[in-house]
Amino acid sequence: MASTLSLEPLRPEDAPAVQRWLHAHLRTHVRAWADVRGLGWTPPEADGHLLATDLVGEHWAALVRASRRRDHLVRVARLEGRPVGLAWAVVRPDDYLKESTGVLNWLFVDPAVRGHGLGRSLVAEAKRWMRSRGARSWVVSVLQGNEVAQAVYAASGARPADLRMMGSLEDDDG
Ligand SMILES: CC(C)(COP(=O)(O)OP(=O)(O)OC[C@H]1O[C@@H](n2cnc3c(N)ncnc32)[C@H](O)[C@@H]1OP(=O)(O)O)[C@@H](O)C(=O)NCCC(=O)NCCS
Repeated sequence: MASTLSLEPLRPEDAPAVQRWLHAHLRTHVRAWADVRGLGWTPPEADGHLLATDLVGEHWAALVRASRRRDHLVRVARLEGRPVGLAWAVVRPDDYLKESTGVLNWLFVDPAVRGHGLGRSLVAEAKRWMRSRGARSWVVSVLQGNEVAQAVYAASGARPADLRMMGSLEDDDG
């Protein structure tokens, strides 16, 4: 990609783009989880849930709070100054391996500029920051079936570790 890429802190004027990405991200996840959970929501019902609970507003507020903390990294990828992607990471203790681990909380690249290495650059930046904060490993959760993200993480050196499962407690089938 010929344009100049920079990785910078979150700015208030990023709100429209980042909230649009949050909406897309949350819509995908709510639809997937509602489906596994057996709620039988139609796409408009899932969208209604997003709206009624202000999930986008909640996540945007959490992102803004995180961007002000030293133990979190919020990096916005910009092409010619325009926001095109974001990575959010945090470092925390791993209770089992007893070491500091980096958690990649969120990764998103604008659909218009996918497939040009921005996702990988954002992961590399997050990994550099995790290392600088003393982390010795990194983890990320990814939706079952999100093969593109899984390929990005694999290309960035991660391997599948576990699988979260979900079930309803409202039926009687054991
Ligand atoms: C996942 C996401 C961040 C990837 O961003 P991207 O900028 O398109 O990714 P990159 O161009 O850096 O790709 C990095 C590697 O991922 C793999 N990859 C990327 N796009 C792919 C595709 N469509 N199919 C298969 N593999 C793909 C390739 O291995 C690629 O490396 P290569 O270019 O050396 O072949 C982007 O698709 C996205 O924002 N998706 C929606 C949100 C999401 O799923 N986030 C992750 C939540 S856990």
